[in-house]
Amino acid sequence: MQITSVCLIFQMAVASSAAIIAQTNLPEGYRLADMTWTGVVEKGGPAMSFVGTVQSVENQVKEINSSWTIYNQWNAPQQEKRSEVSKRYPTDLLCDVPNFSAADSSPVKEGVKYLRGLGGGCGVGARSCVRVSCSWNGAIHLCNNNDHSISPSCSYLGDLADTIVTKCLNKESNCRTGPRGQGQQWDNENFNVIVALDQC
Ligand SMILES: *[C@@H]1O[C@H](CO)[C@@H](O)[C@H](O)[C@H]1NC(C)=O
Ligand SMILES: *[C@@H]1O[C@H](CO)[C@@H](O)[C@H](O)[C@H]1NC(C)=O
Repeated sequence: MQITSVCLIFQMAVASSAAIIAQTNLPEGYRLADMTWTGVVEKGGPAMSFVGTVQSVENQVKEINSSWTIYNQWNAPQQEKRSEVSKRYPTDLLCDVPNFSAADSSPVKEGVKYLRGLGGGCGVGARSCVRVSCSWNGAIHLCNNNDHSISPSCSYLGDLADTIVTKCLNKESNCRTGPRGQGQQWDNENFNVIVALDQC
């Protein structure tokens, strides 16, 4: 009983500072913005854009038409052209980045699974970070260091986040059952993916 309450207080303390961390830990001069997902939600339909995390975008799409979804077999990510693949590759991986808090691996793994099966692009403006996915306080952010907006394939971001899960989210916690951790994976095209605790 006593141990349970100590764990609870600890978790609440971590969670309450997490919101601040997500705002202030951005590289200097960066702003936190909303992600723009662009993809096809109806077979044969046009590409459409929605703003929010993938979880929020899926809800918005379902509100328009309950039989629509962003997770479609027919819309699964295409194998990228060889020329595209060779242009883009992961570079530095950093675990335990200062000022980020550790996230539980299980909700992040869910996010990775969804992203990998998601067609379309996850868009972020110039010198901004966006929250791509967040569930049960496990968040995946995309930060863009370029002076122009980018929209890398969501499935590729899932691959980058998966590397962080495998290499960084492997610390046991006293109060929780699963492994946890945080980290940042860079891409050669001057953007990075961050997996860390956030409030959602
Ligand atoms: C909703 O989407 C389904 C599948 O694309 C389509 O058959 C149906 O006509 C749509 N309903 C409305 C009200 O647009
Ligand atoms: C961490 O946060 C503190 C307080 O906001 C700040 O002074 C420091 O520069 C941050 N460190 C990094 C590496 O961002």
